[in-house]
Amino acid sequence: MRHIRTNAFNPVSPEQADFLQDIIISIDDELIVAIKSFSAHQGAWEDYRDCIVTPGFIDLHVHLSQYRIRGIYYPALLPWLEHTVFPEEAKSRNPDFARHISEDFYRALWRNGTTYSVIYTAPYREAAEMAFIMAQEMGVQARIGMTLMDMNSPDGMQQSTDYALRNSIELNELYQNQMLGYIFTPRFAPTCSEILMREIGTYAKRNRSFIQTHLSENPDEIRWVKELFGKSSYTQVYQDVGLLSPRTILGHAIHLSDAELALLKDSASAIAHCPDSNFYLKSGEYPLSRIAQQGIAFGLGSDVGAGTTLNMLYHAKQMNYRQSKHPVLPAEMLYRITRANAMILGLDHRIGGLKEGLQADLNIFQVPSGFDIEEHSLSQLCFMSEDFQLKEVLVKGKNKLPAY
Ligand code: GUN
Ligand code: FE
Repeated sequence: MRHIRTNAFNPVSPEQADFLQDIIISIDDELIVAIKSFSAHQGAWEDYRDCIVTPGFIDLHVHLSQYRIRGIYYPALLPWLEHTVFPEEAKSRNPDFARHISEDFYRALWRNGTTYSVIYTAPYREAAEMAFIMAQEMGVQARIGMTLMDMNSPDGMQQSTDYALRNSIELNELYQNQMLGYIFTPRFAPTCSEILMREIGTYAKRNRSFIQTHLSENPDEIRWVKELFGKSSYTQVYQDVGLLSPRTILGHAIHLSDAELALLKDSASAIAHCPDSNFYLKSGEYPLSRIAQQGIAFGLGSDVGAGTTLNMLYHAKQMNYRQSKHPVLPAEMLYRITRANAMILGLDHRIGGLKEGLQADLNIFQVPSGFDIEEHSLSQLCFMSEDFQLKEVLVKGKNKLPAY
């Protein structure tokens, strides 16, 4: 049992983060068992009075197999995929390579305070399975998918439809436990046949499985989808093959008509907004106000490797900076990297908040020396996170940071 004397911010809604000043967080094994005012505490305690605590961060969209190509620049999606991404993902067919990159990636997630993530790997069973094996060995929490591409893909990467389906379903059956789950991962419409997407949609509906893909990121990509499928919109392609559902997470979703927003809303699909990536690749500005107005669920993803870092506070800051008019406030910045993502994953009864009975997935940040710890500390954490030192990152009560 630990009793941590500290201060904290608990995300409640896009409008509200509760500031908890001078409290005791009591942790028993994996769970938060009590949060109360210090004045009501009796007995021993650990001194973290110069710190603030947040829930562990959740990354809703990240490509493990692209971890080492961050920052290798190509100024548009399709040439970047061809020249940088595909040759890198091809390396993860080698189990030894896949093991090392998985290990490096998981350690880097923890160093940045990410305690749950939703992961794309590469178009090889070896890559996805090694990501699961290492996650199991290291105690990582994630949903992980084998990236699927059965058309318009380079030699040596293009899967047969049968390979894509069979291995996805096998991995889905093999890896389901308290820490890990599968997510069906058709890469995006340009590299996925209608049959593949339809079969995934049918299986996922029957088994209530999660699905992730990319949607309407870039104008050239959207034109290509129009040529290939001839539908009224990109979103309509996914709707018609049955990929939209309350357990579907769509990366980007930048260039959308009102009719497309209605399809997302009616299907209760969710969006992974990736602001850093959207401006790195010059994809465009996320229509945050329109999406919020529609009541479509969305959270934040790093989209590493088009995103340059796994640091979710950096992405929260980018969410603010990459809106030219709409000012995103600190309460929403915290919410979108914690509770919003937990709700999209159906895990808000376990993670994404600070409450008795939730998992002890916590970040403990040391506030810069001499700074006050007040309501405004959340704003400072969001906008100048570089100056806050992560002292502990707890996953189910266990500190995942290396001892220095
Ligand atoms: N669209 C299809 N594949 C990818 C990818 O790997 N990254 C991004 N940002 N967009 C994609
Ligand atoms: Fe992506």
